[in-house]
Amino acid sequence: MSDAKKPDLENPVQDFVANRWSPVSFDGRSIERGELLSIFEAARWAPSAFNEQPWRYIVASREDGEPFEAILSCLVDANQTWARHAGAIALGVTALSFERNSKPNTYARHDLGLASGQLCAEAAARGVQVHQMAGILPDRARELYGIPENFEAVTALALGYPGENLELDEGIRARDGQARSRRPMAAILFGKSWDEPFGQN
Ligand SMILES: Cc1cc2nc3c(=O)[nH]c(=O)nc-3n(C[C@H](O)[C@H](O)[C@H](O)COP(=O)(O)O)c2cc1C
Repeated sequence: MSDAKKPDLENPVQDFVANRWSPVSFDGRSIERGELLSIFEAARWAPSAFNEQPWRYIVASREDGEPFEAILSCLVDANQTWARHAGAIALGVTALSFERNSKPNTYARHDLGLASGQLCAEAAARGVQVHQMAGILPDRARELYGIPENFEAVTALALGYPGENLELDEGIRARDGQARSRRPMAAILFGKSWDEPFGQN
């Protein structure tokens, strides 16, 4: 991990949190099948509202050839440019209604995000980085994979080992040298009232 990507922590966190980031440049190595399955196993064990587990993933490894090209075609062009060099690409899909009563599941996207967050943490602990994307073509994904009406493709995830990829345009590669930034803790964690930072008098 380059110094630019190291988080400017206000409080200590576990390595797998500190070391996670979203690269655009991957070194071209494929992800071993067992490794990939363990990463999705972590998503499987995420908590969810009523334990509905609304998330589904569709995945292809680059070495698979045609299935990888198919999943790549579900990304917007700007994301395809760099994601084509990832070891694997997945689509994050979620159910929109509860299986138990068919009512709308307003927590569905939350729970897909939570599963993907857990997946990212497991991946980071294994030296694999995940770059998530909202820039996808959900209608193309629906048509290509036969995604049912009550499900929706929400994100894509490019997984791989970060490393210099000289096939990428320098302008895109430069993104991996940019510092990661976050709002200060005082702007996101409140105590007695809105906007009043937690832990201050
Ligand atoms: C839901 C979601 C959608 C995103 N969409 C895109 C995208 O379409 N293209 C892209 O290059 N990065 C995308 N990102 C990556 C974010 O830009 C990145 O996570 C953010 O800048 C923080 O950087 P870090 O993950 O390295 O800490 C997305 C991330 C998330 C979680």
